[in-house]
Formats: sequence, C-alpha cells, structure tokens
Amino acid sequence: MGKIVIAIDGYSGCGKSSTAKAVAKDLGYTYIDTGAMYRAATLHFLNNHLSATNPQDVEKGLKSLEISFHLNPENQLQETYLNGLHVDDAIRSMQVSNNVSRIAALPAVRKDLVAQQQRLAKKKGVVMDGRDVGSVVFPEAELKIFMTADLETRAIRRQAELLEKGETIPLKDIIENLASRDEIDSTREVGPLIKVEDAIEVDTSNITFAEQVAFIVNKAREIIDKE
Ligand code: DC
Repeated sequence: MGKIVIAIDGYSGCGKSSTAKAVAKDLGYTYIDTGAMYRAATLHFLNNHLSATNPQDVEKGLKSLEISFHLNPENQLQETYLNGLHVDDAIRSMQVSNNVSRIAALPAVRKDLVAQQQRLAKKKGVVMDGRDVGSVVFPEAELKIFMTADLETRAIRRQAELLEKGETIPLKDIIENLASRDEIDSTREVGPLIKVEDAIEVDTSNITFAEQVAFIVNKAREIIDKE
C-alpha cells in the first residue's frame, strides 16, 4: 500500500493543527506543522531584533535560523525546536501571533521554509497543515482539505487554548488578530491562502472534532487503498 501526502490548509484558528495531528496519529503518519515553522522564524526575528523591512536583517535572520521537529518519547508529541531550544509555548504567544503574518509574507522566508517543508515530506506518509500546502508546497498532494469555520467560533476556540496556557486575552483582541491574519495571509503575493480547485472544503463550525477527523481519515483511506 502506497503512502500519500495529505495537505490541510485553511484560515487561522479553525482547528487545522489538532485535526491534522489526530489524522496523522490514526494513519500512523508524520505530522508537519508549517505554521509552527513560520511562528519559530517570527520568534527568531523578534528575539534578535531583526527588522522584516531591512533585507540585510532578513538575510541574517534566515542564515542563523534552524528549525526542527523532535518526537518527545515520554508523551509521543512532536515538539518544535528553534536553534536547539524547545519553543512550542513561546511561538504561540500573542506577541508572535501579532507579528507572524508579516514575517510569513516575506518571499525570502517563504522560499526557505517551503524548501525545508518539501524535504521533510519527500518520503510521503505525512499530514502537513498550513496555508499554501496544497497550492505551493505539495501541489501534487493526493488529498487536499480546505478547512473553514466562522470567525467567532474560531476566536472562542483560540481563546480557550490560550487560557489553558495561562494567557487571558479578550475575545475582541482575538477576533481582530484572526481577521487581520486572514486578510494578510489571503492577499500576500507569494503563497497566499487560497482554496485550490481540487481541495475538499470542510466547514468545522457545526461538526464535532471527532467527525472532522473521521471524515478526513475516511477520505484518506479510500485513496490509500487505491495507491
Ligand atoms: O497555522 P498557524 O495559525 O499556527 O500559522 C501561523 C501563521 O503562519 C499564519 O498567520 C500564517 C502563517 N503561515 C503561512 O503563511 N503559511 C503556512 N503554510 C502556514 C502558516
């Protein structure tokens, strides 16, 4: 049975990563969170006071940027490392969320990270989530999902996630952040968020998490069986 690539793209905060993680677990596939890579790059720029508008700073930032994923043997969770440090909490702070779309819109940053994502998925058997996976990173992905959910539903979910991490953020601020990221992500010149023609749209506003995971796993199995 052949392995496939599953691309899950969509708006900020509609549950792509938790869904992708669960789909990967179910199929025994590797999960690759491309958003975590853009977030890690953003953290790197912020930590080193590098400016996104200064080409020399961008070059310096990319040269000194090393992102990797490692499986934690204790909980079997995949963790994100930036230059050797575990950064999963730091990359999901509001400060990173407020700056990530700006950094992710830089063509040099996208070129670098897309190449790394393509290397990571070379052997297939991966579920990759992001904004441009089905359109740019893996246009030949065997299964493409485009996830949506209405803005308020997404904001309420993101608020609960942040609260779990100890950050109390007003709903209004989260709505603003999601709407602004949607706008920047959808209108940038390189790798904008778009629903490609061959992607299946999954609106998660009114279905349960288990239902959305089961839907994608079933679609994947249908394709894998034919490979
Ligand atoms: O999936 P996320 O919300 O963690 O992604 C964080 C940001 O990274 C998002 O606002 C846009 C950017 N991103 C991107 O431009 N391309 C991707 N493939 C994934 C994320």
